[in-house]
Amino acid sequence: MSGSAVRAALPVSASRHESSALMMPEDANLLGNVFGGAVMALMDKTAAVCAMRHARQQCVTVSVDRIEFREPIHVGELVVLKASVNFVGRSSMEVGVRVEAEDLRTGLRRHTNSCYLTFVAIDAAGRPAEVPAIIAESHEERRRYEAAQARRARRLDERAAEAQHTRAHAAAHAATEPAT
Ligand SMILES: CC(C)(COP(=O)(O)OP(=O)(O)OC[C@H]1O[C@@H](n2cnc3c(N)ncnc32)[C@H](O)[C@@H]1OP(=O)(O)O)[C@@H](O)C(=O)NCCC(=O)NCCS
Repeated sequence: MSGSAVRAALPVSASRHESSALMMPEDANLLGNVFGGAVMALMDKTAAVCAMRHARQQCVTVSVDRIEFREPIHVGELVVLKASVNFVGRSSMEVGVRVEAEDLRTGLRRHTNSCYLTFVAIDAAGRPAEVPAIIAESHEERRRYEAAQARRARRLDERAAEAQHTRAHAAAHAATEPAT
């Protein structure tokens, strides 16, 4: 986008997405509860829909924050996933996903875990592409926006530290390699 072009902006509500899936025996781990990987795949898919709805472009998952499963989900429960865009950079979007398990006999829902995933919009050449800005309207959306901004800064610091560590390790390894 050229410097003079006005960047589009969309409200959080325009891309919010909810999905659900009934947990079947094939989703179980060896203890008979739902396999964590099955829930992670549902989280990634639900968040990806939300990111692509916001960007209206192809998006890829670039990072997933720490996931903590607070309690097991049982076969026969309905997993309900609620996703919304918390923060947008230039090409990246942080999407928050809240996971609940519903007992279909009682209607009771338990919050089992939440996670933040970062997606990047990709252009036809496979490069990061600019996405619309996000408009946080409600008090809750503004709170999430600010928290997401702080998490983004931490992630980028961690990424830079890891790159530095990799470079230092490669340099140390090269120094101990016998000359050929
Ligand atoms: C997504 C991808 C093209 C980004 O490439 P890159 O060289 O890191 O690009 P950049 O450094 O320009 O970063 C692009 C954006 O991603 C963000 N980003 C990059 N790494 C990140 C990370 N680890 N966590 C959070 N955001 C990250 C940058 O901050 C930047 O955001 P901004 O445009 O909003 O400022 C590249 O990492 C990729 O192809 N990854 C594989 C994605 C994939 O295949 N996912 C599915 C896994 S099976």
